[in-house]
Amino acid sequence: MDPKDVVYVNGSFLPRREARVSVEDRGFVFGDGVYEVLRVINGRLFATRFHNDRLERSLDGVRITLASGDSPASFVEIGKQLLRENDLTSGEATLYIQVTRGATTRAHNFPSPGITPTIYISVARFKPYTDFAQTGASAISHPDIRWGRCDLKTLNLLPNVLASQTAKERGAFEAMLIRDGVVTEGTRTNFFGVVNGSLRTHPSDNHILPGITRSVLRNLAQDLSLELDETPISVAEIPKLSELFITGTTTDVMPMVKLDDQPVGNGRPGELTRRLQRVLAESLASGGD
Ligand SMILES: Cc1ncc(COP(=O)(O)O)c(C=O)c1O
Repeated sequence: MDPKDVVYVNGSFLPRREARVSVEDRGFVFGDGVYEVLRVINGRLFATRFHNDRLERSLDGVRITLASGDSPASFVEIGKQLLRENDLTSGEATLYIQVTRGATTRAHNFPSPGITPTIYISVARFKPYTDFAQTGASAISHPDIRWGRCDLKTLNLLPNVLASQTAKERGAFEAMLIRDGVVTEGTRTNFFGVVNGSLRTHPSDNHILPGITRSVLRNLAQDLSLELDETPISVAEIPKLSELFITGTTTDVMPMVKLDDQPVGNGRPGELTRRLQRVLAESLASGGD
């Protein structure tokens, strides 16, 4: 049987091939919108509250006002209906929520009141990176050329797309972005490293996206009495890394065992990485919310 492929656009549930948005949509014309990606395991959404809060924050940050009755929580309910309609209530899936400022004649300024934001919600089957979780994967370092509000999860992903493509062309899984001499994050992940025995990651400021997996992992590390030092890793410290890993909704904790073709530490996933992988896996399995 063909898998169903039902999506939600602006109030309607319909087959993906029939779903339409205007060519004047500001998401299409300006990248003027925000989004979220949630992990779904056996029909249970992971860390929904964190995602709802972040979507609220992204909407506020770009000054998009939802129509009355719409909210991150109502989008999640639509997502649950899509999971049922698409037979994705068992196994692994992702839920995608996108909000743009709406469709109107092209002009940089915000449209006059009355233009309703465009809402697009879809679900998809997901296959975790179980091989890379075991063996580890490789990364390249790459300049971070993004704007000054990387803390908002906006559709403006061109620098991320370009860096990710460069990584792929160099046989790597992810690009580790460098701004002003420090590691910020990845194109779709946050980076963590171990330097001189201490676990380090970039602080949550305007230069990184506050990853939900990053937040969950920070709480889990705290439960284990593991100290997380939010001092960014400097370029000078990169050769001293004994462990390196990325976190993300679709990557979980993934060891990075090679950076710019050089082994990280002994070239195998490190002890601390393994430990954090295990606790995150337990949290995902138990629902996490
Ligand atoms: C730039 C960037 N950093 C970090 C992340 C990881 O965030 P999360 O753990 O919420 O998936 C993402 C996720 O898409 C991202 O795009």
